[in-house]
Amino acid sequence: MMAKLADWFLNGRGGDAWWDYNGTISEQRAAENPVVGAIAKFHPTPGRILEVGCAGGALLEVLAKRFGSECVGIEPSQQAIRHAQTVRPAISIRCGVAGEMPWLDDASMDVVIYGGCLLWVDRSDLMAVVAATDRILSNQGLLCILDMMPPEPRAVHYVSPGRRKDYHYWLMDYAQLWLANPAYSELDRQIYRIGSSNPSSLVVLRKDEDAAYAPFPYLYDPPKKEKVA
Ligand SMILES: C[S@@+](CC[C@H](N)C(=O)[O-])C[C@H]1O[C@@H](n2cnc3c(N)ncnc32)[C@H](O)[C@@H]1O
Repeated sequence: MMAKLADWFLNGRGGDAWWDYNGTISEQRAAENPVVGAIAKFHPTPGRILEVGCAGGALLEVLAKRFGSECVGIEPSQQAIRHAQTVRPAISIRCGVAGEMPWLDDASMDVVIYGGCLLWVDRSDLMAVVAATDRILSNQGLLCILDMMPPEPRAVHYVSPGRRKDYHYWLMDYAQLWLANPAYSELDRQIYRIGSSNPSSLVVLRKDEDAAYAPFPYLYDPPKKEKVA
């Protein structure tokens, strides 16, 4: 059986290895993250923001300052969390991976961000992540998905120090998982290329439960039962 990537990120070296190699650049690029502009445009007064796979919380800090929101994160790397606790103690980050998030109340988040995170989610957990996100996202809330966007779904062999041979990550258009539900609509899609790698994208979805279904006036008039003599 294929080893779970979530276990490697949480209990192996996965999260910390990512942080060792990319933590500095993740911190430096936070202010330029296109999510900031997307929130300003589509939901400028978010009360609560969650980023799943938030690394050291740099983007959450930018968002807290810009929008005055309460910002919380989920991240498997203990090193990244320790860094956040030192540098930005006001940002609360829970150690964990994308999943059911039972400690977060229903409809408690106005914005949920997956920034380069869904590609790491084990395929067997993917639909649970979709359901949990839907549970915690408020009506009229925004879902922001940043990821690589290949022309078709791809499983990529992941090469990193200490990894086991059978790890992959998965590239696809993740927004489609939510767009199958008529409560979600796509507000924006920006595709950009960094260097020669796969094109990356930011897709912004809005959840609108009130507009999901057109009313349809169908009255069921059950046939009268004939009395049997
Ligand atoms: C590509 S990085 C992006 C970090 C940050 N969002 C940013 O934009 O700089 C992905 C992050 O997701 C974390 N991660 C990996 N697997 C995860 C999972 N299953 N659930 C939540 N986070 C995960 C990694 O430890 C890493 O910090």
